[in-house]
Amino acid sequence: MNTSFERCENTKVEWLTPPELVKQLGEFDLDPCSPIDAPFYHAKNNFTSLDDGLRKDWFGRVYLNPPYGRGMELWLEKLKFHGNGIALIFARTETKCFFEHIWNDADAILFVKGRIKFYHVSGVQGGTPGAPSVFIAYGKANATALKNSGIEGRFIFLK
Ligand SMILES: C[S@@+](CC[C@H](N)C(=O)[O-])C[C@H]1O[C@@H](n2cnc3c(N)ncnc32)[C@H](O)[C@@H]1O
Repeated sequence: MNTSFERCENTKVEWLTPPELVKQLGEFDLDPCSPIDAPFYHAKNNFTSLDDGLRKDWFGRVYLNPPYGRGMELWLEKLKFHGNGIALIFARTETKCFFEHIWNDADAILFVKGRIKFYHVSGVQGGTPGAPSVFIAYGKANATALKNSGIEGRFIFLK
């Protein structure tokens, strides 16, 4: 594992979604957890750790690739209640997060074929992570957008 890629100076994990992948999902109004010095943006509006995107009011269509580690499920829970957006997380399907906020609550999921090559905050595309990824759609329109995205993988409606 390439730990220098996984952790930035302040030890927060910074796996940035390839922008071309997010474009396949359509336009987003808000990314509630964007890097402070982002090399690119996925949404028209972006919160960073300086804003604390978890405490802010979310609006419109949300793209969420949350900070990993402890507390990650709080971001999924917030998106679940917001009801309009698509999340990208590691496909750890046995976890409390999956059972409390995804399996019974999301509209659809797409298990990504192969491993995503995430970006570093420097703008350089780094190595692949040690786990597969899954997109999670909340809201019917987002389920349809995920289905029609053309992202290679296995799409499943959950509702
Ligand atoms: C996995 S990265 C994803 C970044 C971006 N959303 C993307 O998909 O390319 C998680 C991001 O959340 C940011 N972050 C951490 N804590 C945060 C907070 N409380 N509020 C907003 N952003 C936060 C980190 O700096 C990091 O850039």
